[in-house]
Amino acid sequence: MLGNLKPQAPDKILALMGEFKADPRQGKIDLGVGVYKDASGHTPIMRAVLAAEKRMLETETTKSYAGLSGEPDFQKAMGGLILGDLLKPETTATLATVGGTGAIRQALELARMANPDLRVFVSNPTWPNHVSIMNFMGVPVQEYRYFDAARRGVDFEGMKADISTAKKGDVVLLHGCCHNPTGANLTLEQWAEVAGILEKTGALPLIDLAYQGFGDGLEEDAAGTRLIAARIPEVLIAASCSKNFGIYRERTGCLLALCTDAATRDLAQGAMAFLNRQTYSFPPFHGAKIVSTVLNTPELRADWMAELEAVRSGMLQLREQLAGELRDLSGSDRFDFVARHRGMFSRLGATPEQVQRVKEEFGIYMVGDSRINIAGLNQATIPVLARAIIEAGV
Ligand code: LMR
Repeated sequence: MLGNLKPQAPDKILALMGEFKADPRQGKIDLGVGVYKDASGHTPIMRAVLAAEKRMLETETTKSYAGLSGEPDFQKAMGGLILGDLLKPETTATLATVGGTGAIRQALELARMANPDLRVFVSNPTWPNHVSIMNFMGVPVQEYRYFDAARRGVDFEGMKADISTAKKGDVVLLHGCCHNPTGANLTLEQWAEVAGILEKTGALPLIDLAYQGFGDGLEEDAAGTRLIAARIPEVLIAASCSKNFGIYRERTGCLLALCTDAATRDLAQGAMAFLNRQTYSFPPFHGAKIVSTVLNTPELRADWMAELEAVRSGMLQLREQLAGELRDLSGSDRFDFVARHRGMFSRLGATPEQVQRVKEEFGIYMVGDSRINIAGLNQATIPVLARAIIEAGV
């Protein structure tokens, strides 16, 4: 029977990881998968995370099952991190999930349980796995314009026109901050206009918040999400702790469902717990406990915030340096968008052939759509990348 299986195309981002590993060249540079790396190319364990794990090792006495929807301390801490003062526990359902991807998957399952005929509006482009999951689930995908390739900025007029065609019962997937793969983000004024369109159409926003703290700061990166939460009666938020806590392999994330009243909240909470039970039963505990320990212990929280801020400002400096180098080499300001973009990624706007050339000639790996992971760079590799970009004719 298993011989009937059809071969699956490998995930492009993950395949690139393998290709990079197999490349024997000394000076190769990995700008592929979205993992933070320090200047020496290492993905460190954050200080507060290590401290939390030490405490857990000393205090934990059992590995028995915990909450099916996650532990209340994790749920509350994540709700607060994302929504701040806007968190209303009595009308918010929360689910601990297997990473941010698990939160996206459970959000889509939940929306489909509520409306079997839903369509999901996604930005063009979006994280490829968004579309892949929806295709696998058989959920129709509707693209909305998002990226203005010429300016490397947001095509906001196109976006507004396209999401205005969503209807009640549809889902509009929005990137909360640090748009993946482009790095081009909405201003707060534009978020307000998006909220106006959602109010008019009645479509359900699903906000993917995978990089809170990597763009303009923890509070700033949640501002668009909070604006939507304040204005739209029902909102789904899929949050990842992979990046901002650096706990990628612990698979930690959560889904929030903001509801209009307590009865709907109970319905949503029950459906979400059911979804976990049907998919993998209990969610991973370890990463969630790290997160709640860090967020609920003032000195750990302060240290985590300081380290996250250093990571964020380090990436901004790399952006400035790369934009400066490209300005010098190209004799123009056409690459200044690199400094304007936020988060881990920027889409350079190179052709697939140019991306291939940069890989073959210079050993620099970026995703095929010319997305680069800024955190994969350091002061020494930026000039190498800049020269490759110019020589490849980007
Ligand atoms: C990425 O876009 O590189 C990250 O979100 C990692 C992944 O799972 O694709």
